[in-house]
Amino acid sequence: MELIVNNLCKRFGDKTILDGLTFSMKSGDFRAIVGSSGSGKSTILRLIAGLDQPCSGMISVDGSPLKGPGPDRGMVFQKYSLYPWLNAAENVGFGMRLQRMKPAQIKERTAYFLEVVGLSDAATKLPRELSGGMQQRVAIARALATNPSILLLDEPFGALDLQIRESMQDFLLKLWQRTGLTVLLITHDVEEALVLAQQVHVMASNPGRIIRSFDVELDKTDLDQLRLSNAFLTKRRSLSTTMRELEPALC
Ligand SMILES: Nc1ncnc2c1ncn2[C@@H]1O[C@H](COP(=O)(O)OP(=O)(O)OP(=O)(O)O)[C@@H](O)[C@H]1O
Ligand SMILES: [Mg+2]
Repeated sequence: MELIVNNLCKRFGDKTILDGLTFSMKSGDFRAIVGSSGSGKSTILRLIAGLDQPCSGMISVDGSPLKGPGPDRGMVFQKYSLYPWLNAAENVGFGMRLQRMKPAQIKERTAYFLEVVGLSDAATKLPRELSGGMQQRVAIARALATNPSILLLDEPFGALDLQIRESMQDFLLKLWQRTGLTVLLITHDVEEALVLAQQVHVMASNPGRIIRSFDVELDKTDLDQLRLSNAFLTKRRSLSTTMRELEPALC
């Protein structure tokens, strides 16, 4: 899989939201884009998901320009987005039903992906009976179940409190290490970007564009230790300083 985002521009009315946004990813990459609120992060993911059109520039997957949404891109939204009237298993099965997979296969894959996210026991629970973290794990299972070649995550843990957020980060990192998924994570949280991604792009606002890219290069065998290590704290400081320089009025 190769995703190429080339010189992307997006306008809403007369406001330019994204201008000259360029980056590319290959299979197995874990990439993060960090930017402040309103910099255009969700807009980038919506364009890559094919839910919206750029005014110029190009997005291609494996050499073909994007034509619209497709099962090759699995998306987890910023706000909880499970169907409230479907239970966890039915939510996970939703995309597979759209793909017209056979019922027996849907059942098998649903059980498998609920297990992957540690929620086998919650299969028959409705979203309102699940915590925020559990709901986002169901959303991740739903995105994975259609076998996408890239997982697009829009601040998936942004609404969770710190402790749960950290355990969800541990969960996502282990999932990526185990499966070799390709992940594009959007976040405003510098620490989250460094804990999870191999490379971090920093966005400037007005218009949104990537102005700096960092290779993370940290040992991620033990995240609790990592978060306290000098190497991590130094990188975090340097990334935070870059963001502060970009948005002096906001920080
Ligand atoms: N459908 C739309 N119509 C008009 N303006 C929009 C639309 N969607 C987004 N915008 C504007 O585009 C800008 C970027 O929005 P976007 O949601 O991409 O930011 P974000 O970086 O994801 O912010 P946050 O961190 O708060 O989620 C904002 O100024 C927003 O008001
Ligand atoms: Mg957003």
